[in-house]
Amino acid sequence: MVALTKTIIQKINKDKFQVEELRIAAGILQEGGLVAFPTETVYGLGGNGLDTSAARKIYEAKGRPSDNPLIIHIADVERLENLVSDIPTKAKELADAYWPGPLTMIFRKNVIVPLSTTGGLDTVAIRIPEHPIALELIRQADVCIAAPSANSSGKPSPTIAKHVIDDLNGKVDMIIDGGKVGIGLESTIIDMTVEPPIILRPGYITKAQIEHVIGNVSVDAAILNRNPEINLVPKAPGMKYRHYAPVGELTIFEGNSQAVVKAINRITEEKAQEGKKVGIIATEESETFYTNGIVKVIGTRKSEESIAKELYAVLREFDDEQVQYIYSESFTSDDLGQAIMNRLIKAAGYKMVQVDKDSKEG
Ligand code: TXA
Ligand code: MG
Repeated sequence: MVALTKTIIQKINKDKFQVEELRIAAGILQEGGLVAFPTETVYGLGGNGLDTSAARKIYEAKGRPSDNPLIIHIADVERLENLVSDIPTKAKELADAYWPGPLTMIFRKNVIVPLSTTGGLDTVAIRIPEHPIALELIRQADVCIAAPSANSSGKPSPTIAKHVIDDLNGKVDMIIDGGKVGIGLESTIIDMTVEPPIILRPGYITKAQIEHVIGNVSVDAAILNRNPEINLVPKAPGMKYRHYAPVGELTIFEGNSQAVVKAINRITEEKAQEGKKVGIIATEESETFYTNGIVKVIGTRKSEESIAKELYAVLREFDDEQVQYIYSESFTSDDLGQAIMNRLIKAAGYKMVQVDKDSKEG
């Protein structure tokens, strides 16, 4: 059981802060404690990545299975040499192009990195986040910071400090409230220990952006899989767990947009008659066509960025409102849309409805 701790909650303005404001947080990390902090993707739960006991505390606070490895966050690329046994040329090129940024690379680890951080693997995931608070905190603490997303295991990743407080208050030493994150989905993960390198988790940095720098890469078949009966084990251990999930039962509706609205309206009506509370994930374009249920606008179809940014917050808001069923439109699977659909499908536990046929029936 996790002992209850007094959690310090500290607000810091990411655009205008004094380095002294991070002194207490850096001290906690140096002493082996846990600090949740904002990054440009989602909030992370940080602890010293080279300290076995700090790693253990992270798993405990999140309720995370111990075979699910952590990402080590560094502030300066020179730190890489101490942590890994080999830096492939292509990894150097990607680091030049996209670090700091939402890209995590997997390397063969050095002995200095404990197996408790890597979930027993001989590889290690590393990234340099692009966020002024995260970078300053890592530099001041002067340790490598292992940081998974700062949510309870299985819940949607946190994009504002309130989400972290809801999940981890009393379980960590400090939560830094640096406002809303910029991207809203976790980093792209690419395994650089194989040739060609393989994308294990889609994110803001797309396959096309990676291929632009290093040429052909492949994509783990498990992350594109839409059929739970095809039993593909993802290469990133964390991707195998039901993840990102809200408490309400989420179903995704795919097909022609008018048919989708019609099908969602119909089922929402049915559930309302049964006395159930229903939430609908809509877009600016479709919002006004829904006739029932709690309708939340996730963003506009003109900007995948807008949708990525709100996805987890909307799922958590439906939980706060104790919605029992959530119905969502689907999104294109190109570029950032691939990351959005990957998270949405997992949040839905693969529950998807094709409505095209319906529309032909009228
Ligand atoms: O954007 C992000 O990456 C955020 C912020 C806080 O940086 N962090 C994050 O960490 O999403 P986490 O722990 O929630 O997700 C890390 C994923 C997991 O699916 C894990 O299995 C995978 O990375 N991973 C970590 N090390 C790995 C390794 N050596 N081999 C394969 N997969 C690995
Ligand atoms: Mg996570």
